[in-house]
Amino acid sequence: MAELVVVDHPLVQHKLALLRMKQTPVAEFRRLVREIAHLLAYEITRDLPLATVPIETPLMATEAKMLAGKKVCIVSILRAGNGLLEGMLELIPSARVGHIGLWRDPATLQPVEYYYKVPTDIAERPVIVVDPMLATANSAVRALSRLKADGARDLKFACLIAAPEGVARMHAAHPDVPIYTGAVDERLNDHGYILPGLGDAGDRLFGTR
Ligand code: PRP
Ligand code: URA
Repeated sequence: MAELVVVDHPLVQHKLALLRMKQTPVAEFRRLVREIAHLLAYEITRDLPLATVPIETPLMATEAKMLAGKKVCIVSILRAGNGLLEGMLELIPSARVGHIGLWRDPATLQPVEYYYKVPTDIAERPVIVVDPMLATANSAVRALSRLKADGARDLKFACLIAAPEGVARMHAAHPDVPIYTGAVDERLNDHGYILPGLGDAGDRLFGTR
């Protein structure tokens, strides 16, 4: 049942290569994350329900398909998730948004929660959780458990890069949640960073180091 979708489209791979380069400046890094978010959103929303509605073109009456059902909720794991969130909102502008603030303690690699705000009706919505890096998966597993405790059932997770260790942990903890990623890298280093990875996603997005 556990699903892993590697979005290995050539545009994603090219943009990921640019993101990984240590000399890529902050502004370009941000733009690339937004652009990859568009491509991930395109894949992740493939199964959204459609309804046939009557419309009028300038020439005649006809029928067309439009999105139906409750609007998607995108949940960003702060702070680096906001880079992907921005890009996804450009493609799905009417999405609702939730935020989960998690800070990874560098000593224990366990997430510490400092913020939680999601739509009150999240249980009724398809939910896409976004965070650029799936390393140990401690943050993602915690975020998904939190959302499930609020009743969310239709969940997907999107990231730029995953570690094999993180994928295994997610599949064990949340086998019902499909993972969409641009790449699965080699492994984690002793500090829980993905190798080769791209470094610290939050620092590179916001220029904090
Ligand atoms: C990073 C990243 C993930 C987490 C992944 O966030 O954005 O949230 O680490 O690691 P994990 O899979 O081992 O939990 P970080 O804690 O550095 O916080 P930031 O987004 O505020 O920079
Ligand atoms: N968080 C990051 O930002 N990068 C990693 O490689 C692992 C966790």
